[in-house]
Amino acid sequence: MDLKDEYIKFMEQNGHKQIPSAPIVPKDDPTVLFNTAGMQPLVPYLLGKAHPYGKRLCDYQKCVRLTDLEEIGDKTHHTFFEMLGNWSLGDYFKNESIKFSFDFLTKVLNIPVSRLAITVFEGDDKIPRDEVSAKRWEELGISKNRIAYLGRDDNFWIAGETGPCGGDTEIFYWRSDDEIPKGFDTNDERWVEIWNNVFMEFYQDEDGNITELSQKNVDTGMGVERVVALLEGYDDNYKSSIWKDVILKIEEITGLPYEGNEKAMRVVADHIRTATFIAADDAGIKPSNNGQGYILRRLIRRAIRYARNLNIDINSDFDKQIALIIIDKYGNYYDELSRNKDIVLDVLEKEKIKFNRTLEKGLREFDKLTKNNQNEINKDIAFKLYDTYGFPIEQTIEEANERGMTVDYEGFKEKFKEHQAKSKAGSIGKFKGGLAGTSEMEVKYHTATHLLNAALKIVLNSKDSHQMGSNITPERMRFDFTCDHKLSKEEIKEAEDIVNKWIKEDLTVVRKEMTKDEALKSGAECRFIERYPDEVTVYEIGDVSKELCGGPHVKHTNVLGHFKIVKEEASSAGVRRIKAVLED
Ligand code: ALA
Repeated sequence: MDLKDEYIKFMEQNGHKQIPSAPIVPKDDPTVLFNTAGMQPLVPYLLGKAHPYGKRLCDYQKCVRLTDLEEIGDKTHHTFFEMLGNWSLGDYFKNESIKFSFDFLTKVLNIPVSRLAITVFEGDDKIPRDEVSAKRWEELGISKNRIAYLGRDDNFWIAGETGPCGGDTEIFYWRSDDEIPKGFDTNDERWVEIWNNVFMEFYQDEDGNITELSQKNVDTGMGVERVVALLEGYDDNYKSSIWKDVILKIEEITGLPYEGNEKAMRVVADHIRTATFIAADDAGIKPSNNGQGYILRRLIRRAIRYARNLNIDINSDFDKQIALIIIDKYGNYYDELSRNKDIVLDVLEKEKIKFNRTLEKGLREFDKLTKNNQNEINKDIAFKLYDTYGFPIEQTIEEANERGMTVDYEGFKEKFKEHQAKSKAGSIGKFKGGLAGTSEMEVKYHTATHLLNAALKIVLNSKDSHQMGSNITPERMRFDFTCDHKLSKEEIKEAEDIVNKWIKEDLTVVRKEMTKDEALKSGAECRFIERYPDEVTVYEIGDVSKELCGGPHVKHTNVLGHFKIVKEEASSAGVRRIKAVLED
């Protein structure tokens, strides 16, 4: 039986209801690109909202963590992973949570107690030392010298900077054939963390103030890849049953053994799996130069480059063969993979064709430089590689590093700004991962988004209708906003009419730099003000719209053409979604 199934069965036997895995692209949170933990979609419920499934929940959640994309290739890192989690929403707390984890590990997975060690929160000036958890672990049979008290850096958990949080207790497993020591040296890397139980009883605000939540929650997380590998006795995750068939396929395609080619094979396997999940998400992400699309692009292009290093014919369907294994393997758990299989294959194919056209030429640029003994990729070459040969800047840096060269990254960024007056590296969270959209159509949609935002406030007669999310491709715009009802035909028409009137009036778009305070005083529209830097950019369109925004935008509205709403639907509770297009 699969670890996921075992886990869900155990938690269900203990009164938990299984909730479906949330999409990998969060629906209602414009501040993050991807779900990074099982608790992320549950934040409103951790804060006190009643969950329709009750107070004890469990699931397996798709997660993407990208902080270390360039590090992928070692034994244990993945860009995509699955997290097992169980939650108490104001129901059980430390004692039961610890017992569930202990029983699952020792009785269901049959891990000997002698291989386990524990850390608990040592406390600080705000939160007391967690003697309750330590005592519980001891009662269950963990010896005192296997329980370590650690501080905030290790045993306190929060997603990002603000939100529900609390001290945690972490479970470690002795992953080595060496004799198991009696004590627990937390710096000994043979002890690997396998499960984290967070006792979410606090809320941390922007100033770091901690207040008690209305309820005491438990949030746990266990990484599937890691646990499966250690249960099967591997210290290399890619040797476990999770990856075996994918690696075998890559060995078959290349005719090379895994041993000696580990890094490239891991990168190809990992990146194609993640790209498959992102492309399959119902959010409809396509490779592009911003947001999630930029990550998807980087993953596919990096996979292709490493495939080339393995002497794979990059014009072959190697990527498709691997994606099909992934879809087959995970399709039963995540139905979007089966439903959107053709979309995934199409995304991979199109991006591959696009990139392969210029990849060889781009690499020849590198060879030329190496021959000329140059040790820096100057800003002009870095920009040429990006603009003409489609090299994401991160790839240029990696390629350069492999040849012992450096890249003038700051210069590249300047050049990027100069050359793409219309494009600007987004300055806030959502765009951190990439460079803002550059195509002419995307720029137009960006301005249309501001107009729609302003028009909806008029139609809904409410200053409180706020943007909850936005997604732009060269083909269309999508806009999520707070609204408690389905828009009537009349309301949709009125919104369209207002936007079209403003387009015809040929309003001027003005960009202003100011401090955050000035922007707020001027009444500029802004969500998540705390996530902006002190100096912000405000875009004003005539006198109808004023928003904090990184841009880029058109200069005059009459270039937008005709604005048409093609769909209005529910996005989530209290949030509606509009899809709209600009026509000639
Ligand atoms: N949310 C906790 C984590 O991601 C369980 O580690």
